[in-house]
Amino acid sequence: DKAGFKHFMAKEIAEQPVVLQGALSHYINAEATAVTMPDPEIDFAQVERMTMVACGTAFYACLVAKYWFEQIAGIPVEVDVASEFRYREPPVTKGTVALFISQSGETADTLAALRYMQGKADKIMSVVNVPESSIARESDMPLPILAGTEIGVASTKAFTCQLTTLAILALRAAQMRGRINDAELAEKLAALRSLPGLLNLALGIEDKTKSISRKLAEARDILFLGRGAMYPLALEGALKLKEISYIHAEAYASGELKHGPIALVDKHVPIIVMAPRDSLFDKTVSNMQEVMARGGKVLLITDQKGATEASTGVWETIIMPEVDPFLAPILYAVPAQLLAYHTAVAKGTDVDQPRNLAKSVTVE
Ligand code: M6R
Repeated sequence: DKAGFKHFMAKEIAEQPVVLQGALSHYINAEATAVTMPDPEIDFAQVERMTMVACGTAFYACLVAKYWFEQIAGIPVEVDVASEFRYREPPVTKGTVALFISQSGETADTLAALRYMQGKADKIMSVVNVPESSIARESDMPLPILAGTEIGVASTKAFTCQLTTLAILALRAAQMRGRINDAELAEKLAALRSLPGLLNLALGIEDKTKSISRKLAEARDILFLGRGAMYPLALEGALKLKEISYIHAEAYASGELKHGPIALVDKHVPIIVMAPRDSLFDKTVSNMQEVMARGGKVLLITDQKGATEASTGVWETIIMPEVDPFLAPILYAVPAQLLAYHTAVAKGTDVDQPRNLAKSVTVE
């Protein structure tokens, strides 16, 4: 049931404030002072490193989580795509926790990677949407993301719920390792609790994304740029767009631009820059100016402060609500999803069932 929406994807994008609220109440107490994880909990004070493995959008969730676990909890994190990880026979040292992310919980490569880690990692965790799935059943600690059934092939609400669950887990790990005190934890949990409201506000950019998408639909190639935890969001934006609009899109860490991809830039290539006004903003803006100096058409996705400082010369700007920089990757999933969705609609492709793709990839 599409509940009045034209596509499941549109419904699932719109559902995000509500499902995220459910995930937040599942993992955070009513006073927003403590995290509640399933018993028995993993003692993160003893964890020496984490290995995170997944495919596609879930892999990008791992990449965001790497920033969080390293910066907030001080745990070194290795991330790999499941199809590579399972065959490279990585050595596993004592004190390693393995974490697998999968919406379906049935992705063949991710499941095989999990089985490789059985008996090698100290503990196996998973972040899954389907609690009775193979990946959940074979983990020591499966964490549900509570996104509800996701039908559109392009993952949307599962991604934001994966990120939310991972952000909470990173905070709990930081607390156990004495890296944040109770007041700091409460402050971050309060920021998380404000996410459903912010997501609602962010959904207000829909009309703007629709008009921009009509123009994006004409492009042959589109580049996405981001720095820090916004780099995986750029990757996610490019994947979403390729998947459902069939436009060739690539993402780069903004700092990599001048190491090759800048050669692609001309007036026909829209460049989507995802940059909240955070500590890395100025650096991203200087990369953006390099692109504009070469005739590139920049779509800047930022907040009001960022727009005031840096929209001179840009082609289009999308203004997002202001958000704690820690949580920006969750909020900025919305423009990534809406741009892909409306571009696909403008092109008339089959949004919910794109060609050559299956919702769950249960073969290698
Ligand atoms: O069910 P999973 O999360 O394990 O699926 C992983 C990928 O196949 C999936 O995220 C895929 O990339 C999506 N179609 C992206 O929108």
